[in-house]
Amino acid sequence: MTTLNDLAWWQKTIAYEVYPKSFLDTRGQGTGTLAGITAKLDYLRSLGVGAIWITPCYQSPMVDNGYDVQDYRQIDPSFGTMADMDELIAQGNERGIKVVMDLVFNHTSEQCAWFVESRKSREGSYADWYIWRDPAPDGGAPTNWRSIFGGSAWEWCEERQQYYLHTFAPQQPDLNWENPDVRRALIDIANFWADKGVGGFRIDAITYIKKPAVFADGPVDGEDGMSAVHAATANTPGILDFLHEFKTAVRDGRDIFMVGEANGVAANELDQWVGERGVFDMLFEFSHTHVPMGAAEVWCRPAQWQLTDLKHALTASQQATADRGWYPIFFENHDQPRSTVNFFRCDGSVAAKAKALGTVLLTLRGTPFVMQGQELGYGNRAWKSIDEFDDLQTRSQYEFALGEGFSPEEALAACNRFSRDNARTPLQWDASANAGFTAGTPWLPVHDDYATVNVEAESADPDSPLSWYRCLAELRARHSELICGSYEELMATDEQVYAYRRQGEGSAAVVLANLSGEAATYDSTLVEGMELLAGTHGPTELGTLRPLEAVVFGA
Ligand code: NOJ
Repeated sequence: MTTLNDLAWWQKTIAYEVYPKSFLDTRGQGTGTLAGITAKLDYLRSLGVGAIWITPCYQSPMVDNGYDVQDYRQIDPSFGTMADMDELIAQGNERGIKVVMDLVFNHTSEQCAWFVESRKSREGSYADWYIWRDPAPDGGAPTNWRSIFGGSAWEWCEERQQYYLHTFAPQQPDLNWENPDVRRALIDIANFWADKGVGGFRIDAITYIKKPAVFADGPVDGEDGMSAVHAATANTPGILDFLHEFKTAVRDGRDIFMVGEANGVAANELDQWVGERGVFDMLFEFSHTHVPMGAAEVWCRPAQWQLTDLKHALTASQQATADRGWYPIFFENHDQPRSTVNFFRCDGSVAAKAKALGTVLLTLRGTPFVMQGQELGYGNRAWKSIDEFDDLQTRSQYEFALGEGFSPEEALAACNRFSRDNARTPLQWDASANAGFTAGTPWLPVHDDYATVNVEAESADPDSPLSWYRCLAELRARHSELICGSYEELMATDEQVYAYRRQGEGSAAVVLANLSGEAATYDSTLVEGMELLAGTHGPTELGTLRPLEAVVFGA
């Protein structure tokens, strides 16, 4: 049986995702700064956080909020300087909070010096750093692939008289990992950051780096006559050779972790990807976020789902990582809507939903990743027009929905439901103007309810989501079975309650979360001989759960 001594630091801690543009602005410019993160490290420590994943803060034209990197060795001036980053890493290390950098290595910005050179001509040392192809015989794009952000995945380049491939936006050309010079350059960048003392890496869009040997049209899957690019390029044979090389050159011999963003890796392939034989320590996989959104991720056609679908996905991931690799638990990130909307099919208070799902987040087996604002119980924002959104994917999903015959109102409703901007609005610190996020004009609006949903107000309220997160963080620290205990699902067919047992060495916990808006019952023998360790609603009556009540029993 696993004990605390068997686990690495990053398996025992709580990770927190910082979206730096929306965390805290120390300059009155309307967007967050690295100094803002440093200023709030003690706040993060109070949540039991030991690692902060910072989404890209490198120099970037910000077409995709930093996921279009111009220079991987420079901090974007809007965030501050490299000295600010060094200070953040040092101050974090002093407090036991490791910085985790986001490596965006499937593509660069079109303004990256490598691409600027590459697009100039078919000769030259950077000519082969990206995916260039001649036009199809009719002069059009080489294949019918649709980019993830909509439109053709190919962009014409006048200078070279060729097309280049972009899995995401046209301003994000895909790198050619077949070229050993590209791989060497990326390894050097990762080592540059590892040498600075960061605690690990989140690696973006990693399943797309290896392109197929032959480029061919895929089956048409939309009114636009195209085929999703990733249907042809995700998790292509040979990808693991690249990643083993990367792991050996970057990860081996260091006390860091690497978590890959890995759409398209099936559970039965997992042991090649994580653990002893694998290339990463953890993988963000999306089987549970696909339950409400649908695997095709077409917002205007969401999935029909019930609680057992979600429970089944979570249990499958728990089982798949029971003895190989480790699971990063998440219900939110900067690409997802807020979980209080996404994973509930009932009405009810947002705060109660945040506490119920927060209980699951902090008690499943794995490293919890809290998205900034999740601990405060954010809902989605009520967006009134497509013009209010910043995110390029939201705009493309809106256009796609119109193209599929949906009305403007229906297309807007789909964006309200799923837009990535829901997760990207500023962090609300207090009840002052702009929720204390900025003295300027925030780049995205704060929520209407910021007077009560903010760090200061919730710190003073023992019933707030924030106080509940702190309570759960302390509970994890005291009850090692919540960290290293095994996972066994209980009440698997129940459509209201998600329940499981965490069995440790000589101690056990049972978690019961009523994720429905109705009262629920359970067999009280499940918790026989145990005491209530924590409950969202205070003392609880054995055998029943109030709507959205979650409890943790232990013995
Ligand atoms: C995944 C990132 O999380 C997302 O925000 C980004 O738009 C794409 N990869 C492209 O880098």
